Amino acid sequence: LIFNIKKLVQVEEEPRLLVAGKDMATLNTIDNAYLIIKGDVIEDFGPMERLEKPQQQGLQIDKRIDATGKMVFPSFCDSHTHLVYAGSREIEYVDKIKGLSYEEIAQKGGGILNSAKLLHDTGEEELYFQAMERIHEIIGLGTGAVEIKSGYGLSVEDELKMLRVIKRIRETTPIIIKATFLGAHAVPSDYKGRQGEYVDLIINEMLPMVAADDLADYIDVFCDQGFFTQEETERMLMAGIKHGMRGKIHANELANSGGIQVGVKYSALSVDHLEFTGAAEIKCLLNSETMPTLLPGAAFFLGMAYPPARKMIDAGLPVALASDYNPGSSPSGDMKFVMSLGCIKMKMTPEEVINATTINSAYAMGVSDIVGSIARGKIANLFITKPISSIEFMPYAYTAKLIDKVILKGKVIA
Ligand code: NIG
Ligand code: FE
Repeated sequence: LIFNIKKLVQVEEEPRLLVAGKDMATLNTIDNAYLIIKGDVIEDFGPMERLEKPQQQGLQIDKRIDATGKMVFPSFCDSHTHLVYAGSREIEYVDKIKGLSYEEIAQKGGGILNSAKLLHDTGEEELYFQAMERIHEIIGLGTGAVEIKSGYGLSVEDELKMLRVIKRIRETTPIIIKATFLGAHAVPSDYKGRQGEYVDLIINEMLPMVAADDLADYIDVFCDQGFFTQEETERMLMAGIKHGMRGKIHANELANSGGIQVGVKYSALSVDHLEFTGAAEIKCLLNSETMPTLLPGAAFFLGMAYPPARKMIDAGLPVALASDYNPGSSPSGDMKFVMSLGCIKMKMTPEEVINATTINSAYAMGVSDIVGSIARGKIANLFITKPISSIEFMPYAYTAKLIDKVILKGKVIA
């Protein structure tokens, strides 16, 4: 039982799968509230004056948390990360500061291929431990569900190695994990000039093995200028669908690549990045099942233009926000900072960024039926803040550590 909660945030009496357009500006909250967790699920909540003695509800309370002055939020859902990787890439960071672009760094053998080399030279056990440190880090930052991509393997063996690490993380942490196969993250150096053959390798060898071992929920393709074309993306998405994997596409980060249209055409669960989004792309996304997912941490780190979140929401679209945690374009999994960027850089309101980092991001990774809001029967993944004055204070105090306690699957995390 958590009692005397100053504000219970993102409450749903009738669970929704996502929130779009104008509705994103509203958040359902309860002041001076209680919340009861039973096992790993949310059993009940309401205003304090409605709290009967738990015995009267036939419940025996074995733990009470006094949340006077504090708020309770559903855990963040981070629907787009690459947090399984080896080492780090601060050398490129310096290149970037000196003026090289993301594509120039990639052409120099840096970028994704640099991480692929590091990953190849790192054992599976070590890779798991490095990734688990990041998992513990993001749990402490309030994330309760995270999608993790492969894509630093770029060979049959190393892609499977990454996906096995993701599977092991799923089996050893309380955080909810979805795995995405991103063999089409870049063309490995030994396939240079033979991109089509690499696409064949993905379709004919990697995908069947990934599917046979049930190692991925979704398939991703980096559909962008200098990476994979629209036609190649179509072929890979079709193959993925055949193996029961829905698309989650990296699209329109570096140019107007047509990735959004391909994603929508194949009913991708999400299209992500979207720095280059115009009226045609917005129109295409309306009335689709595809969640536009923005990653402002990457635009921040690369010093690029931000995606037009305001235009999307004003046009009636839903928007999700995710961290893109990765060594090259966003070495941070801090979803609270992502909220702040959404507000300051993309002119989203605090209510909108909360919807975008909880229920909509849950949709974008296919878990909004079990997490993403405070609703009866949903998994009890939430965090209790330190005493704060208002909801707005969360994105406003953009480097303050405001999380007091994290609860995952109903248990307080040490
Ligand atoms: O989401 N855009 C493609 N992939 C990552 C970057 C990966 C890297 O540079 O290592 C991204 O930004
Ligand atoms: Fe990414």
